[in-house]
Amino acid sequence: MTGPQSIGVLFVCLGNICRSPTAHGVFEHRVERAGLTGAIRVDSAGTGDWHLGLPPDSRTQRAALARGYDLEHLRARQVAPADFRHFSYILAMDNANLRNLERLRPNWYRGELDLFLRAGGCHGSLEVPDPYDGGASHFEQVLDLVEVAADGLLAALRARHRLG
Ligand code: 4NP
Repeated sequence: MTGPQSIGVLFVCLGNICRSPTAHGVFEHRVERAGLTGAIRVDSAGTGDWHLGLPPDSRTQRAALARGYDLEHLRARQVAPADFRHFSYILAMDNANLRNLERLRPNWYRGELDLFLRAGGCHGSLEVPDPYDGGASHFEQVLDLVEVAADGLLAALRARHRLG
């Protein structure tokens, strides 16, 4: 169970069927492995609305499952105004999505709205490229980037919030 004091982390991409569900599943796995499910809540959403209610793209699911992440239960939803109340970390997969989120951001929001890779301590290119029109290697690249950033993000949250 997660309490009301838990730290909310929302991953955001365009469709919520490729990149952000991957980040959702991988980061949730890291949180569970660290025994921090009561302390950190994880969710994902899209800035677009084309795929509402659908499970992750079959190519995303296949690539993730091969690395041990089952994403089948996830369903696409669109970012909503209430997300700024429920999540103190809202992390975008690329600059276009970050710009869209900045337009939605209420003035009172004091959480962290940033690129996922930056929050995860990555250097160099800080975008997770959209794999939707790409081949299998693009989906592997998403997983490669997400796994590294998920580890970095968990380490950052543990240090900042003094989690066990
Ligand atoms: P995602 O990928 O933003 O990582 O979920 C995409 C999924 C669908 C589309 C674009 C990107 N689309 O244009 O339908």
